[in-house]
Amino acid sequence: MRILVTGGAGYIGSVSVEALVAAGHEVTVLDDLSTGYRGAVSPSARLEVGSYGTRPPWPRCWSGITSTQSSTAPPSRSSASR
Ligand SMILES: NC(=O)c1ccc[n+]([C@@H]2O[C@H](COP(=O)([O-])OP(=O)(O)OC[C@H]3O[C@@H](n4cnc5c(N)ncnc54)[C@H](O)[C@@H]3O)[C@@H](O)[C@H]2O)c1
Repeated sequence: MRILVTGGAGYIGSVSVEALVAAGHEVTVLDDLSTGYRGAVSPSARLEVGSYGTRPPWPRCWSGITSTQSSTAPPSRSSASR
């Protein structure tokens, strides 16, 4: 499947991305890098830097997507957990 993972550069999301890639899925990550790290994203996944709360780059991200997984957290909750 082609899977979009929001927050895929974060703690939980990046582990999910690794597992999805290992299972043979084509993964796109949408992450604004507010608490996540570019280096945490599997090199086998495509990273789109942006927020799910803004319009771009959504159209490009959605192209061909058959499934989604969200691992994002509101900024306040993200920073509270660190
Ligand atoms: N870490 C844990 O042990 C744990 C346990 C249970 C539940 N959770 C929940 O799981 C969720 C993810 O936790 P985490 O530890 O992976 O947090 P994290 O901060 O490491 O990951 C969240 C990711 O979402 C990204 N993000 C935030 N807002 C975004 C937006 N608007 N658009 C795109 N990307 C955005 C951040 O840059 C980050 O990469 C949270 O809701 C958290 O409360 C975490």
